[in-house]
Amino acid sequence: MLPFDSNDQHIFKLLIIGDSGVGKSSLLLRYADCKFPQQHLITIGVDFKIRTVTINGERVKLQIWDTAGQERFRLITSSYYRGAHGVVVMYDVTCLRSFNHVKHWLEEVESNCGEVCRLLVGNKNDNPQLKKVPSRDAKRFADRYGMEFIETSAKECFNVEKVFTTIARLMLGQKAREQGREWVYVEDESIILNDPRIEDIRKQGLCC
Ligand code: GTP
Ligand code: MG
Repeated sequence: MLPFDSNDQHIFKLLIIGDSGVGKSSLLLRYADCKFPQQHLITIGVDFKIRTVTINGERVKLQIWDTAGQERFRLITSSYYRGAHGVVVMYDVTCLRSFNHVKHWLEEVESNCGEVCRLLVGNKNDNPQLKKVPSRDAKRFADRYGMEFIETSAKECFNVEKVFTTIARLMLGQKAREQGREWVYVEDESIILNDPRIEDIRKQGLCC
């Protein structure tokens, strides 16, 4: 169990799921450590990182679970869905198959954790010539499932932070609704805390 930090107002468990190779680990590594791995280092089971963000002045600690996309780890990873507040469902914009599998991943979410905040992410959006999934198709799909949709590139650090601030906002809104609180999101109020290295790199213009 992760220790509770009383300075944090909210703690949310977030899962990243999707086919093997779509870039789940790369997105998380880019977000949390400002790094991009060139090789596909297959995730075995799960891995997690913790980051704190501030949304509307509310501190949110994100426990971000990076799951294995490979079928052979499915039994292990499905046990990690329990207690999740949000799920990022990822596909690769250069791989139609990974997009066609999103429906299956959503069914997996439904059977393992019921009502959670969901965000659709199309990664590897950095080479228009290789793009196989048109943005409008993915947007239409996301609308049909009542999800927000973001295209990213972990490689070029495009929209990476937006993924995590968006899902954090959705989870905060959901929690407020459950508590009967009024909650209005103020755009661009989110900042990452807790990682001076990332801030330093940003100041030098080397990242995100
Ligand atoms: P599993 O752990 O097997 O489920 O895969 P994964 O989804 O974690 O994929 P991973 O992050 O390991 O990335 C797979 C490959 O895609 C690696 O070779 C990455 O370098 C590459 N990759 C990841 N993100 C991007 C991206 O935004 N653009 C491009 N061009 N390549 C990427
Ligand atoms: Mg991985």
